Amino acid sequence: MQQTLQTRVLKKTRLSERVVGLTLGLQNGAEFPVWEPGAHIELELAVSKGEPLYRHYSLCGQQANSREWQIAVLREDSGRGGSAYIHDVLQEGDALAVSPPKNHFPFAADKKCFFIAGGIGITPIVPMVQAAAAAGLDWHLLYLARNAADFIFLQELQQVDGARITTHASNQDGLFDLEAALKALDEHTTVYSCGPQALLNALESYQQEQADIAWQLVLERFSVQADPGLLQGKSFTVTLQKSGKSVVVASDESILAALKREGIRVKCSCQNGTCGTCETVVISGQPEHRDFVLSPQERQLNETMMICVSRAVSAELVLDL
Ligand code: FES
Repeated sequence: MQQTLQTRVLKKTRLSERVVGLTLGLQNGAEFPVWEPGAHIELELAVSKGEPLYRHYSLCGQQANSREWQIAVLREDSGRGGSAYIHDVLQEGDALAVSPPKNHFPFAADKKCFFIAGGIGITPIVPMVQAAAAAGLDWHLLYLARNAADFIFLQELQQVDGARITTHASNQDGLFDLEAALKALDEHTTVYSCGPQALLNALESYQQEQADIAWQLVLERFSVQADPGLLQGKSFTVTLQKSGKSVVVASDESILAALKREGIRVKCSCQNGTCGTCETVVISGQPEHRDFVLSPQERQLNETMMICVSRAVSAELVLDL
């Protein structure tokens, strides 16, 4: 982790049955770097004696509070132990190394915003709502969850402007009619959404299928279903600029796996192209981006790539490793 910040857990609170909130402060009491709505930080979790686990969580507190950062962590029972460690082991007072904020879900305040949050996907949306309200924008939040008890931060959001918030808990309200909500949007609207894959896929499909849609869609994915096809393609060579070493990436393996096979360690987390931990600078060659992190503009620039899923169009890639 570059430029690691040494923090301490100031507060650990239960936000719902499956979500805990952490408030972090710098160990030296200094101010945190500034961050923008949509930003996340990477936690370095010493889950075992081996390699640490890296996990990403959106900053969801007040931007103006420069001495405290807040995150919310959903317990993922089928995960690899990162969230369970935070829930069961990490305590108030514990030291925690985190990265400076990164933002792959930028909020560009404009005229109208329609926020759609699914479950824990509310976390990056909270500061966006606050920013939209502070800027006097015309905004609305659609907050979806399975159970009413899963609505975290609802009180804080309602204090911003409860009349602009629609909540829908599917266990009591049934299926939400997403199409009807989207049909009502005009061309001045930007839709910001974070939530489960099914919700984001539905939004993307709707936008692609309706030829006359003029509103913008900005998504943040925090998980995707494993797709073995994502790792396949033609074989190519990766040359590591710093060591001069070259590694052939087979047609059915990722760059990350090929490097591991050769004993070269690169920091990674999700391994499905959603978190950004393995983002690597491209020195030369043309990547074939298969991640869910980079924006279309960033993809065109080809300055970095996610080596857990992305491959190469060119026969060789030179990476800053
Ligand atoms: S490890 Fe998460 S994007 Fe590559």
